[in-house]
Amino acid sequence: MAKLHFLVISFLFIVPLFHGQGTHFLKSQDGSEEWGYVEVRPKAYMFWWLYRSPYRVEDPSKPWPIMLWLQGGPGASGVGIGNFQEIGPLNSDLKPRNSTWLRKADLLFVDNPVGTGYSYVEDKSLFVKTDVEAAVDLTTLLENIFNKNESLQNSPLYIVAESYGGKFAVTLGLSALRAIESGKLKLKLGGVALGDSWISPQDYVFSWGPLLKYVSRLDNNGLEKSNSVAEKIKQQIQDGQYVDATNSWGELEEVIIDNSNSVDFYNFLLDSGMDPVSLTAIELSEGISMKRYSRYLDSLRSSADGVVSFDDLMNVVIRKKLKIIPENVTWGGQSDGVSTALQGDFMRPRISEVDELLAKGVNVTVYNGQLDLICATMGTEAWVQKLKWEGLNNFLNLERTPLFCGKDKMTRGFTKSYKNLHFYWILGAGHFVPVDQPCVALNMVGTFTQSPAVASS
Ligand SMILES: *[C@@H]1O[C@H](CO)[C@@H](O)[C@H](O)[C@H]1NC(C)=O
Ligand SMILES: *[C@@H]1O[C@H](CO)[C@@H](O)[C@H](O)[C@H]1NC(C)=O
Ligand SMILES: *[C@@H]1O[C@H](CO)[C@@H](O)[C@H](O)[C@H]1NC(C)=O
Ligand SMILES: *[C@@H]1O[C@H](CO)[C@@H](O)[C@H](O)[C@H]1NC(C)=O
Repeated sequence: MAKLHFLVISFLFIVPLFHGQGTHFLKSQDGSEEWGYVEVRPKAYMFWWLYRSPYRVEDPSKPWPIMLWLQGGPGASGVGIGNFQEIGPLNSDLKPRNSTWLRKADLLFVDNPVGTGYSYVEDKSLFVKTDVEAAVDLTTLLENIFNKNESLQNSPLYIVAESYGGKFAVTLGLSALRAIESGKLKLKLGGVALGDSWISPQDYVFSWGPLLKYVSRLDNNGLEKSNSVAEKIKQQIQDGQYVDATNSWGELEEVIIDNSNSVDFYNFLLDSGMDPVSLTAIELSEGISMKRYSRYLDSLRSSADGVVSFDDLMNVVIRKKLKIIPENVTWGGQSDGVSTALQGDFMRPRISEVDELLAKGVNVTVYNGQLDLICATMGTEAWVQKLKWEGLNNFLNLERTPLFCGKDKMTRGFTKSYKNLHFYWILGAGHFVPVDQPCVALNMVGTFTQSPAVASS
């Protein structure tokens, strides 16, 4: 069945737009999709894919928004995973996704940083080593896409991140603001949204033990072991030993796995590899992530007759549609290099960047799935409490508003806002909020982008 869809898509007509130095892109015949490469530095190429919403509403008082989706990893592909497994118009069987975030906004996916997904470098020394370097490349990408395009400039840009993408989102937010102020970048920044985001590694590793103990997944022995490795990580972070901290983090994951009989890091109610999108693994330690990755792909392969693996989807089917992926570039082929190059920044917190964005008046939305372990709500609340932002006490003292979705009266989450800080607690969701709770996630996105599209319920 799925193969049929693949054929249909690969015969779409495609209009070449522009082939120039460092930049080229293509457009689907109806103009609803565009994709291309930007040479963000010599020999470093970033791939992007823009979808224009078929649900667009013209409202003079509310511009139609655009969201830039930043995947985690580091090294996980937004063009692949975020697009086909989470929020794009088609799912990984290339069937329409009812809950696509296109209902509320245009969507821009990028394979960030260079080396991720279809993005690539021609020289391994060109991988980014810090979140800030990634933000500089992303800013260059945005200049290339937005500066020449007035219609795009009319849409406020919302940077929406998941997992490790949150660290890129806050550094990009600041970098983009500077470029806007200096006149180098022509766009309006609407806000930044941090979904289950790795903003403070220390607060997350300290949340794992207690959380799993409370829900019976660890005993006291496991809790003690977990806390002692977390203490070591805290010390290493304090001493600026970030690579050591990254290694200890890998050690802590092993402790959790051994003592919990392999809890799923993306949903603590499940066993490892049972969540819907586990190949988005945030793991740096290759051993673990590669094992999980292949297990996930295997489960896909055997899940339905004739369905190709996600890897084949991206490397055969989608590549054929896109037409501009160089022959010697494999989707995901350089992703291990991406995460390895970032191991000195992986454990570095980005709380002060959130503070800077808040101080500059940027709307910051934080959302978290209740059942996430790797970026647990407990850890998120801990770093939020460390903000130096002047509105923090008022924010903390506010009451929450319950969220509902659909016809039943079930509580789906809670939210509260004070000035430009907004927080959403999403019940029943793990790490991959839009996959687990599509209805409430879509309403939330409509709210924080101030989309003129009406709420679905
Ligand atoms: C692909 O091949 C071309 C031509 O041989 C080469 O210039 C380029 O560096 C290669 N790209 C990658 C990512 O290996
Ligand atoms: C820029 O805007 C025009 C519409 O004015 C559109 O046709 C074109 O494809 C856009 N280019 C990009 C890169 O989005
Ligand atoms: C922030 O969001 C609120 C709505 O929640 C909106 O009224 C306000 O204009 C936004 N501020 C900025 C600077 O975009
Ligand atoms: C699709 O979404 C619409 C509105 O968002 C909703 O009313 C409808 O029930 C959904 N359909 C399915 C099959 O989920």
